Amino acid sequence: MRIAIDGPAGAGKSTVAKALAKRIGFIYVDTGAMYRAIGLYLMEKKLNLHDEAPLRKALDEVELDIGYEDGIQQVYLNGTNVTSKIRTEAAGSMASQVSALLPVREKLVEIQQELGRRADVVMDGRDIGTVVLPDAELKVYFTASSKVRAERRYRELVEKGIISTIEEVEADILARDYRDMHRKHSPLKQADDAILVDSSDMTISEVLQVMIKLVAERNPEVAKLL
Ligand code: DC
Repeated sequence: MRIAIDGPAGAGKSTVAKALAKRIGFIYVDTGAMYRAIGLYLMEKKLNLHDEAPLRKALDEVELDIGYEDGIQQVYLNGTNVTSKIRTEAAGSMASQVSALLPVREKLVEIQQELGRRADVVMDGRDIGTVVLPDAELKVYFTASSKVRAERRYRELVEKGIISTIEEVEADILARDYRDMHRKHSPLKQADDAILVDSSDMTISEVLQVMIKLVAERNPEVAKLL
């Protein structure tokens, strides 16, 4: 079974997807982490991102691997574990920029589709229900107001000791939403057959309950486990 979760930054996708995957014994695939890793790689190479030939060459040369430690996704860039390095706001912003490039999307979509063929997955991102897994058995589009999303991100950053203001975080989220929704290739949008979940006034555990119910309705094997 493939579960596709899309939505803007800070809508609670990864927290819910991770908890859901653990609960139902599926593999969680965080596709944003892949764009973040490629963003880091391309920025460190200091390439002109709009020069297609060197970009394709750099993408051919990079080795991007996904692994799991205690069920938690790890991302390896040319053999180095970059899982914590890619969690900064700067890496998120780099990811948003490189994710607009077609060669980058082609490479990552292929890896993601292969993961979806190999296992039962909960996959989150921006184009999972529309492009990566258009035949997913369950598609959900998460959203929340930009204010609520900024507050959530701000709290996460404070916990990590990163200094910022709510206003800065909200401005960054709005800029990222705009870029992700207006790019030419695979813009963020709700798939026609995706279920909309607005979590502005919901707790994470309430959203998780909604997801478990949706999965159980579609998968009797999972329903038996719950
Ligand atoms: O979910 P995230 O914040 O880790 O994602 C970082 C950026 O990567 C996001 O701004 C857009 C891009 N992205 C994408 O274009 N397609 C995906 N499937 C996942 C992420």
